[in-house]
Order: sequence, then C-alpha cells, then structure tokens
Amino acid sequence: MVNLFGGIYKNKTILLTGNTGFKGSWMAYWLNKMGANVIGFSNTIPTEPNHFKLLSSPYLAFIKGDINDFKQLKNIFTNYKIDIVFHLAAQSLVRYSYRNSLETFQTNVMGTANVIEACKSYPSVKGIVIVTSDKCYENFEDDRPYNETDRMGGYDPYSASKGCAELVTNSYRRSFFPITEFGKKHHFILASGRAGNVIGGGDWSEDRLIPDVVKNAFKKLSTEIRNPKATRPWQHVLEPISGYLVLGQKILNSDVVVSDGWNFGPQNNETRSVLEVLTKSISIWPAIKFDTPAQENILHEAKLLRLDCTKSNLILNWIPVWNTEIAIEKTILWYKNYYETGVLNTEGDLTNYVTNAKKLNYSWTK
Ligand SMILES: NC(=O)c1ccc[n+]([C@@H]2O[C@H](COP(=O)([O-])OP(=O)(O)OC[C@H]3O[C@@H](n4cnc5c(N)ncnc54)[C@H](O)[C@@H]3O)[C@@H](O)[C@H]2O)c1
Repeated sequence: MVNLFGGIYKNKTILLTGNTGFKGSWMAYWLNKMGANVIGFSNTIPTEPNHFKLLSSPYLAFIKGDINDFKQLKNIFTNYKIDIVFHLAAQSLVRYSYRNSLETFQTNVMGTANVIEACKSYPSVKGIVIVTSDKCYENFEDDRPYNETDRMGGYDPYSASKGCAELVTNSYRRSFFPITEFGKKHHFILASGRAGNVIGGGDWSEDRLIPDVVKNAFKKLSTEIRNPKATRPWQHVLEPISGYLVLGQKILNSDVVVSDGWNFGPQNNETRSVLEVLTKSISIWPAIKFDTPAQENILHEAKLLRLDCTKSNLILNWIPVWNTEIAIEKTILWYKNYYETGVLNTEGDLTNYVTNAKKLNYSWTK
C-alpha cells in the first residue's frame, strides 16, 4: 500500500476533516495504510454504529471541533506542520437540509471558507482537496452528462450549499492563488472533487437508500421506498476516494494543473434505478425487504444527474475500478458480514480494490 500514488503519502501530515463520517472513515483508513500521519477533525461521531469507531485506525490526533470555529481551525495549523488538507466535513444530507437549512449553509459554505482561510497563510500546506458533490451543478434535467464547465446551482439547501462551496473555492483560487502566479507569488493549490451517489460498507446515515434497507434488514423490517424508479449513477466509496487521492498526489507534487474542479463518477455513465439496486441487493442478502407505498407531500428530489468524467479520465488518468454491479455486491456483502458475524470487510474491500486497479495497470497504483 505504501507505494501507491508514487509513495507520496508516506510520513505526510494530513488534516482530514469529516474523518468520523462515512467517506472520511474510509479515507483515513486508506491514508493510514499508506503511512500517512492523519489528523482527524470532526464535530461529532454522527451515527451509531459508526465506521470510524469500529475501525479504530491509528491517528496522529483526533480533534473534536466545529469547522465553523475559525480560531480552533487556525490553532491546528499553528500546532502541526500540515502538508495537505482533505476537506470532507459537511452537513451531507438532502432531506435534513430542508429542516436545517441555516446549519447546512453555515457548515457547507462558511465552513469551507473557514478551512481555506485558516490554512492559506501556512507555508507547509501545499493545498486542499475540497469535497463537494455532483449536486453542485444546476440540474436542468435535460438528460446529458454534466462537465466541469457547467453552471453551479442546486434546488434544495444541501445542493445549493455545495454549489456555493464550489463558488467560494473558485473565488479563493482566482483571487489569491491564480495558476499563472503559481511558483512565483504562491505555492498553494485548491482542487475540488465532485462525486455523488456513493455506496459502500460503513454508512449508517439517515435517509440514504442502502443504510436504510440494511438497518431494517437487521431488524427484520421492510423499508418504505419513496422513489423506486429514480435512476442514479451509483459508485463504490473507494472510487471517489481514489480520485481525491490522485488530486492530493498532484498537489503534493506541485502539479498546478489540478487547481480546478474534477468530476468523479461511474464509467460510461452507468446508471441503475433504485429498484434495480434493491433487486441486486436482495439476491445477495435475502433479509432485505422493501415496499413502495403511494407517497404524499414528497420533497423535491432532483431527477437523474450524470457526470461527464472525461477530464478526470484524460488528465488525471482516473478511471473507476469497479462497475455498479460489483459496487452493489461489495456493499451488501459488507453489511451482511457485519450484521451476521461482526467482522468488517473494510480491509478486504480495500485490498481487493487495489489489486483490481493494479491488474488494470492504473497509474495511481505505481
Ligand atoms: N455520501 C455520499 O453519497 C456523498 C455524495 C456526494 C458528496 N458527498 C460529500 O462527501 C463528504 C463526506 O460525506 P459523507 O457521506 O462521509 O458524510 P457524513 O455525514 O457521513 O460525514 C460528515 C462528516 O462531517 C463532520 N461534520 C459535519 N458538520 C461538521 C462541523 N460543523 N464541523 C466539523 N465536522 C463536521 C461529521 O462529524 C462527519 O465526520 C461531504 O462533504 C458530503 O457532502 C457525499
């Protein structure tokens, strides 16, 4: 593992915000395996069970704090010589964002500005990978894949907050860290990663399809499915994470080409309906049950948004390793194994993912 991404992560000191969340816990685990010194920063342990807690990966430090607390963030950079920041902390749930709009905007927009502002004057920090979402794009529901030049937008508060986080990032990029001045007036790179519909073991968040059905399967309950025909480009959590790690590798190598936004989505715009995901899931774990009652007062949920990942494919040489079928299979097996035996497949999934990527001769495996 240590030699992946050119061995760049070994002994690097990394601030990872949102380390107690679903994606953050996988990312910390992978970074640890590559010999990085990870400082985790999160306000809570958001779920019970929780993947971060179950893994108990070694951390250089785990700081409990709020990204809205600028002073606390600033102290981290004074106390540690940080090489790079991966910013994943966010209020990450769409339906929750309707009930808690102000908190969502505060954390996702001003929180992102706080993280950038807090580290921008520390010379050891080479840059930040800001994690936003495919939902940052204005979704015209016109059935075409969106690329990085498409307009930012967002209907619900969560989506709009991620569009705003991208605008904040781009403003900092243009105002303080223009590419043309890199190496002359500054050495700081701001990259952002846009991915969505991420699945994988270890997510127990509310109002997400797989976490909802597996929690209920364990309790021998059926899950009410709101929108069985909704189609999404599902991908395994390790896919966007490998993308963020490629961005980080380039930042650490002072490759300013990544000072931009990047899409990370399934290959060939592969999509599946909720119904198809559930059918496949049941074939792996028959304990999963669902029903589709008629819905009233449905909150607006965006129709299909697909990402055009040509730029990431060509410039970063980033290509997904697993197709959607494998992603669903790995995910459901992870939960089945956890609920039936208490054993985590996290290490097995990561090893398998890396082995498969090596067989495909992906450049980040060298
Ligand atoms: N899971 C997905 O399908 C998905 C899709 C697209 C984008 N994203 C983005 O990826 C990132 C990680 O998502 P996730 O699914 O792991 O989310 P999650 O909800 O599981 O984790 C969120 C993390 O952020 C932390 N956090 C929240 N508010 C905070 C605050 N004010 N201060 C400090 N920490 C705070 C939480 O403690 C937790 O560690 C988020 O930015 C999310 O918007 C996720």
